[in-house]
Amino acid sequence: MDNNYILEIDNISKYFPGVQALKNVSFKIKKNTVHALVGENGAGKSTLIKIIAGVYTPEEGEIKIDGNIVSYKNPADSLKSGISTIYQELSVVDDLTIAQDLFFGEESIFSRGGFISFKKMNNEAKKILDNLGFTFNVTKKVSSLSVSEKQQLEIAKAVNKNAKIILMDEPTSALSDKEIENLFKIIKKLKEKGVSIIYISHHLDEIFNICDYVTILRDGMVIDTLEVENNQEVKDKVVNQMIGKDLSKIKTNRFKKINSDKIVLEAKDFSTSNGVKNVSFKLKYGEILGIYGTVGSKRTELFKSIFTGQNKIEGQLYSKSKLILNTNPEKSIAGKLGFLPESRKEEGIFLGLPISKNIPFILYGEESKLGFLKQKKGLEATKKYINLLNIKTPSPHQIVANLSGGNQQKVVLAKLLAADCDILILDEPLVGVDVGTKNELLDIVNDLANEGKSIIIISSELPELLRISDRILIMRNGEIIKEIIENFDQKEIISYAIGGKK
Ligand SMILES: Nc1ncnc2c1ncn2[C@@H]1O[C@H](COP(=O)(O)OP(=O)(O)OP(=O)(O)O)[C@@H](O)[C@H]1O
Ligand SMILES: [Mg+2]
Repeated sequence: MDNNYILEIDNISKYFPGVQALKNVSFKIKKNTVHALVGENGAGKSTLIKIIAGVYTPEEGEIKIDGNIVSYKNPADSLKSGISTIYQELSVVDDLTIAQDLFFGEESIFSRGGFISFKKMNNEAKKILDNLGFTFNVTKKVSSLSVSEKQQLEIAKAVNKNAKIILMDEPTSALSDKEIENLFKIIKKLKEKGVSIIYISHHLDEIFNICDYVTILRDGMVIDTLEVENNQEVKDKVVNQMIGKDLSKIKTNRFKKINSDKIVLEAKDFSTSNGVKNVSFKLKYGEILGIYGTVGSKRTELFKSIFTGQNKIEGQLYSKSKLILNTNPEKSIAGKLGFLPESRKEEGIFLGLPISKNIPFILYGEESKLGFLKQKKGLEATKKYINLLNIKTPSPHQIVANLSGGNQQKVVLAKLLAADCDILILDEPLVGVDVGTKNELLDIVNDLANEGKSIIIISSELPELLRISDRILIMRNGEIIKEIIENFDQKEIISYAIGGKK
């Protein structure tokens, strides 16, 4: 028996109605390694993770752990055999204390005479967390933790369950740079403890930073498994294998700027109750205005308030020189101002409805109230955006919940684009989309601006932001602290954003 491998995936196939998500997938994970799984949106990464975690049962194939074939009926079975998963939607229970959540389902180990000794539980929890270098107050409620801390708690739970394999599905998508660095330290520590990790990410720099091997999936098939070496040749190879074409040929640059001084949106001394302080800016016709800032710079708070009218305490807003009073989303949309929210699942999408009822929603409202003609037009728009944004789906009538994470994101964007607004505010439009699509989205944004739309784009992905923007505003602590019109310099911009430069 070959015992070099902690996990062997052998010939796995998985079918959903209308889609074969995985086709004869085989690869092996060596003990003590971080193994990346990459591929375009809809390639099958999350499906594979869910099969390993016992959420889905494959129609074909086998999984071996430590050389033994396993067959899971549910996630609990997989957990028992040493597999833990850090999903993107974290599974911590907000109302418990940190210690209670850590030992959820295992409270009986602290019970004596029918009572649970919370003191013992707290001490034990502290020990486990200390050991990982986490500094939580274990008696605090889980709801008081940040996303990154909740993720750390999930990792601590995995370690507490003696996980041999930890599956991480896009773990950095809601983390700041500093939190990502911290996660990498934790991953290294886990590796030292003998844990193997499967790591899904659309960020190749992360993969080349912490992974030992990378398996590339395309259209549900394994294209290759490579040893990670930090050189450009391997990077290019991974990207080309992922998207099946040469990426260097489709790089967008802002090539044709519209030269207009017409102001379409202006904020004057805009302040909100959640931390935006005296912000003033102007957006020109046909312009792409980039907004950069670190977590806590209040980028989202500013633009959400402009769109919804919520939390605004002071300031004026002008659209095409007209003062706008008391905005709300309906009025904004009626004034042709659209907003792509950052938290798509909470604000942007009806997961239980088909794509064809999501995309035309802003334009027409609820389908049940529409006449035949509008329904027909809605379906046409749906098909148009499925093509334009390359949304991977067997049909326009597919329920959005059944799409892959990145394709759900595209539906939210399509919904906004279909509304045909003149001013678009896009909050982190590149999160969760694959490298190829990222470039396609930037091309679309570029085209929209060239057609005379005005676009504000908030993004933490600085290289992309620099490529697409005509002008960049840097925010820190609720204020716009710098405007950069040309000669974008990545280091300089970061320095302003983190307060190293004033
Ligand atoms: N529950 C489901 N029902 C129907 N189809 C599904 C279901 N889950 C996934 N699929 C389909 O299986 C394919 C693979 O999806 P999966 O979520 O594994 O992709 P992914 O590689 O994780 O993509 P992303 O990078 O966008 O997260 C997609 O075509 C998706 O639409
Ligand atoms: Mg996924």
